[in-house]
Amino acid sequence: MSPTRLKAPNVKLPAEYEAETQRQPQGMDRRRFLNYTGWLGILGSLAVSLLGFLRFLFPRVLFEPPTQFKAGLPADYAVGAVDTRFVASQRVWIIREENGFYALSAICTHLGCTPAWLATENKFKCPCHGSGFRRTGVNFEGPAPRPLERVRIALADDGQLLIDKGKSFRQEKGEWSSSDAFLNI
Ligand code: FES
Repeated sequence: MSPTRLKAPNVKLPAEYEAETQRQPQGMDRRRFLNYTGWLGILGSLAVSLLGFLRFLFPRVLFEPPTQFKAGLPADYAVGAVDTRFVASQRVWIIREENGFYALSAICTHLGCTPAWLATENKFKCPCHGSGFRRTGVNFEGPAPRPLERVRIALADDGQLLIDKGKSFRQEKGEWSSSDAFLNI
């Protein structure tokens, strides 16, 4: 049985008793401390569980930029020119020929760098490993294993060029002859 703290005045208690009564508050503090940490642990794990539950209320959606964009009116493009205005923002070149348009993906088919259009040499040149592509997109030098891809090009309702990077066409698969790979105008 634990000793009580009550003590009659002027009564000399045994030394062990005095020692025990001195130790008791520390014991109480330790118990209280363990009590608190126990509750803290329980509350902490409850909070983590609650956060995990709340996370499930929000869908894991990957927001990707739209694959389509409007590229202005056909009259904005010069015949015979490789237009580079959408390379930085969309990684697409738009090329106007005598009879229509095609859009080339500016993604090197070697390792994905962005080639540069060298108008004076009439070719696309990749700065990473030196692959070269003709204005049609066909590869002719460097390690690129295949031509650049073309992407869908059409006319929007308002008469602007409509480019869709979500649909691509590969020359080696015979897809460049698709009606969506070339816009006849
Ligand atoms: S990424 Fe273009 S040549 Fe390597």
